[in-house]
Amino acid sequence: MANDDKFKKVISHAKEYGYVFQSSEIYDGLSAVYDYAQNGAELKKNIRDYWWKAMVQMHDNIVGIDAAIFMHPTTWKASGHVDAFNDPLIDNKDSKKRYRADVLVEDYCAKIEAKINKEVKKAEKRFGDAFNKDEFVSTNGRVLGYQEKIDTVLKRLGKSLENEDLADVKALIEELEIADPMTGSRNWTDVKQFNLMFGTKLGASADTAMDLYLRPETAQGIFVNFLNVQKTGRLKIPFGIAQTGKAFRNEIVARQFIFRMREFEQMEMQFFIKPGTQKEWFDYWKDTRLKWHKSLGLGEDNYRFHDHEKLAHYADAATDIEFNFPFGFKELEGIHSRTDFDLKQHETHSGKKLQYFDHEDNESYTPYVLETSIGLDRMFLAVFANSLQNETLEDGSERTVLKLPAVLAPTKAAILPLVRKDEALTNMAKDIVEDLKWDFNVAYDEKDAVGRRYRRQDAAGTPFCITVDGESIENNTVTIRHRDTMEQKRVKIEDLHSIIKKEVDVKEWLMRME
Ligand code: GAP
Repeated sequence: MANDDKFKKVISHAKEYGYVFQSSEIYDGLSAVYDYAQNGAELKKNIRDYWWKAMVQMHDNIVGIDAAIFMHPTTWKASGHVDAFNDPLIDNKDSKKRYRADVLVEDYCAKIEAKINKEVKKAEKRFGDAFNKDEFVSTNGRVLGYQEKIDTVLKRLGKSLENEDLADVKALIEELEIADPMTGSRNWTDVKQFNLMFGTKLGASADTAMDLYLRPETAQGIFVNFLNVQKTGRLKIPFGIAQTGKAFRNEIVARQFIFRMREFEQMEMQFFIKPGTQKEWFDYWKDTRLKWHKSLGLGEDNYRFHDHEKLAHYADAATDIEFNFPFGFKELEGIHSRTDFDLKQHETHSGKKLQYFDHEDNESYTPYVLETSIGLDRMFLAVFANSLQNETLEDGSERTVLKLPAVLAPTKAAILPLVRKDEALTNMAKDIVEDLKWDFNVAYDEKDAVGRRYRRQDAAGTPFCITVDGESIENNTVTIRHRDTMEQKRVKIEDLHSIIKKEVDVKEWLMRME
């Protein structure tokens, strides 16, 4: 399936099976704002729990907090967001469409990268088993030429953005002859900066109301609480503070479904360290976070690191973990070495000391910070899109199956009485539901032929179907069918709990990080 078609299928499947709806759909929706439906809310919660367990519960030196969305407005002056949280935007004079200038250039490079991939595929076909991809991409003249072009363009873009040279960003767009993707027009305005924060007011009267911002990242709630948490938790460096929660950005180019939203959720962790140790911790967290992703089995080749040329105003090193989304490799998580920028800024603006006293070295210092920051919605999209598959079965029929990692699946098992009208079967199935629901999210489904029910549960992502039939009444056994293999086994009802637990247990999955 072409990538565009695959992505459309992902969006329609998410709606059809109760995962994601357009916000306020009855009023024709609100751009780049989405609601999570009954299955989506469960999947999102399971991803959040999987992150929290790995990050907070499994680390003795990381604690979790839940800071407010509203913060004192000086927070955002101190953090640099008032002055520097901008995107470079450009308008097309003919179509009146607005774009992020850097994204136009990056999309141009992605097209060249697609050409590289095409060359690789062609060579793979030609050389068969003897094909060595690394050797090919490092020696083939055409591929090297494409790669050089990408590197030159991205380097120049990074430099221009770093130097705030917006005229050069426009010049680059013109030199590369980049056209409006919707209309093909090359009639561009100058590039301007646009602040992404949403403003609001606190207070009832117009004279006394205070200007506030909806937080554009959760991280600042951690920085301003750093000393409170350290002291009340008696924490020793190195230690981390984690939180999950909503963040808001007035994205100019909000597109690609839940990949880039105006209201989204982050899962962030700030790790406070001794100055000078940031390189060591940067490598540690790069490695640890990649292992977390890989533990979910979405495919080793679907991840890559992308080190930043252009660093954010607070960072001395940064990398993205990129994921192979249906529209190509894009940022899923950021790992940033934030130095002591934020704590120092908050010290200056609040006039309060935010230092740590190191009893071992008998000295006070402002800690450095290593941050891991992942978008929960992006993680949802990565999991969902990667799991959605179309299979042709041995008998030639097709099935759509959502192969979600069982640990994240919204419903772990569906209990199906073979015949709806047989009360003995329905009662037994309902008893099984009553028993299992203490530990697992399970569903009861009696409508339609059993084959159709299997397909429905496959498409909804349910890892197990448990069928109660005539033999169940005789000997207290049921059949359990695995979503991915479609294999069926007859098992004792009393064993169901342990069979399901083994497949969905967070511990079993997180152990794969080792
Ligand atoms: N505290 C650092 C920070 O916020 P970021 O790279 O701007 O860094 C971190 O954002 C992560 O948040 C990204 O890797 C992405 O997964 C997610 N994210 C950022 N903007 C988003 C948006 N508009 N919609 C959905 N997720 C977003």
